[in-house]
Amino acid sequence: PVPAQIAGRLMAWYDRHARALPWRVPPGVAQRPDPYRVWLSEVMLQQTTVAAVKGYFHAFTARWPTVQALAAAADDDVMAAWAGLGYYARARNLLKCAREVAARGGFPDTRAELQRLPGIGPYTAAAIAAIAFDRPEAVLDGNVERVMARLFAVETPLPAAKPALTELAAALTPLQRPGDHAQAVMDLGATICTPRSPACGICPVMAFCAARASGIAATLPRKTPK
Ligand code: ADE
Repeated sequence: PVPAQIAGRLMAWYDRHARALPWRVPPGVAQRPDPYRVWLSEVMLQQTTVAAVKGYFHAFTARWPTVQALAAAADDDVMAAWAGLGYYARARNLLKCAREVAARGGFPDTRAELQRLPGIGPYTAAAIAAIAFDRPEAVLDGNVERVMARLFAVETPLPAAKPALTELAAALTPLQRPGDHAQAVMDLGATICTPRSPACGICPVMAFCAARASGIAATLPRKTPK
């Protein structure tokens, strides 16, 4: 049961080293994060860094603390508050989504239903289902792809490797605390299993990493030249 061992190590590491982020509930606190805050952060984090998102996240949640409040906002106010984050289609979809969610009385709690909302694709739906509703959905962003490619030494280049990486991420997802697991893999990719010079020496799953064992961690994931 190697996946279970890997997931166990990751969770123990996350319990000690989780990044404190404004949309998170710290590990060990028995409370689910607000789906509105999870959704808002995930939409903002599409193609924008955590550092850049923090200020916008605070501003949005101070002004519109609930999805009902955001749904009732004037379009121009939301577009103005979004200025600087870029990709304005995201802001327009954000409002459309807020209005649909408010009209139906709250966020749906499954990946399939979440994915039908405006601006919510497979990644965001999985992230909200896992983080806000603790559903065992594999969340595959660039960080997670890199972690999977290295742990299991997947040498097939991206994007061809994507289905295999998705399956590996799903196989690694535990039924206990899947939301924290998803965030643990994200944090590992962001802080230790970084693109250029991974800090393998302090990695909680170093002993299980196939790429580390063969000395190719820093070269993965491979990419097909454009
Ligand atoms: N990047 C995308 N979603 C994230 C999250 N929930 N936590 C940290 N980084 C992220």
